[in-house]
Amino acid sequence: MLFKDCLPYLLHQFKSEHDLLSAIEELSQNFTTHRESITEYLNDARLASAYTAFYLTTNIPKLAAVFKWLPSEWLEELKKCILVDVGAGPGTFTMAWKEWVGSDFLGVHQIETSRIMRQQAQKLWEGIYPNEKLLQFSAPQEQTGSFLLFGHSANEMGHKEALRYIEKVRPDHILFIEPGTKSFFPEMLKIREELLKTGFHVLFPCPLETTCPMSNSASDWCHQFIHVRQNPEVERLSQMMKMDRKLLPLTVHAYSRTFEHKASERVVRVFPSTKFSFEWDVCLGERVEHYQVMKKSFDKQTQKELDEVLSGDSIETELEKSLEQAKRVKLIKRNNQTL
Ligand SMILES: C[S@@+](CC[C@H](N)C(=O)[O-])C[C@H]1O[C@@H](n2cnc3c(N)ncnc32)[C@H](O)[C@@H]1O
Repeated sequence: MLFKDCLPYLLHQFKSEHDLLSAIEELSQNFTTHRESITEYLNDARLASAYTAFYLTTNIPKLAAVFKWLPSEWLEELKKCILVDVGAGPGTFTMAWKEWVGSDFLGVHQIETSRIMRQQAQKLWEGIYPNEKLLQFSAPQEQTGSFLLFGHSANEMGHKEALRYIEKVRPDHILFIEPGTKSFFPEMLKIREELLKTGFHVLFPCPLETTCPMSNSASDWCHQFIHVRQNPEVERLSQMMKMDRKLLPLTVHAYSRTFEHKASERVVRVFPSTKFSFEWDVCLGERVEHYQVMKKSFDKQTQKELDEVLSGDSIETELEKSLEQAKRVKLIKRNNQTL
């Protein structure tokens, strides 16, 4: 999907590329430095349109990159579900989902409190998918077979409201794609705790369903990074705005009532590699360990690939040696690929 594909369906028609870029910059400042103005875009057609243009093009590859971490059998289960997009905004993740499932698309319900955003979502959907029905502002009547998605919305509504929607819709599966910020982490932990109490299994990122070992850390919080290959047009505009849209921090959590899956070890922090080793903090569920993986056991190409390991990757290892502050391990698999 390119900028030009969605421009005719924005609520506000930008006079020029410069006009659009300044609106995106204003929006971005409201999200970061001028947090007191964070909700302005929900009542302003110009800012809502800028949000739509920028995040539609970047959230489509983002969802696809997140799905690469998740078990393929679970993704097959999701395809049999109706999507309920909570805090759907203009529907950027709804569209990312539609693009990802393709002809398996079964329908979507969007739940969204902003009138401007609902108008924008309707216009965009009807423009891009004129033959597909969009059901807005309601939870599905059918209580089973739904997949709830929070795309950058649980952080705006807070954990209580997010849990209220979960209780109301009673989905089988839930995916959170939220900002990778320290301030959101305690909110995510409260949601995790409640979901585990009410019969959900955590599929990502936690290797175990025990208390999170980072829950009491003053400096660390569990979040992930993805590399996103943006299309050249988005790349060019991001560079003009000095916004990095290639390496994105985020908080991803996935839950299911009906499906269980355990990763044995999850990378939670990547340190700069030394001449001889890769250095990662790895979550084992009950504790976080520092792992050292020696470079010499891999050919140059694999070393290059391992330079791209990011927080969020799953690994499988064998212990080689316990060191004072770390474990030296042999890396067997990364993201289920044998090395
Ligand atoms: C950052 S936007 C994300 C929109 C969309 N999910 C996306 O990623 O493009 C957050 C959205 O959550 C919506 N929101 C906030 N609180 C809400 C609530 N209690 N119920 C429904 N939507 C809510 C806002 O109106 C806003 O559209």
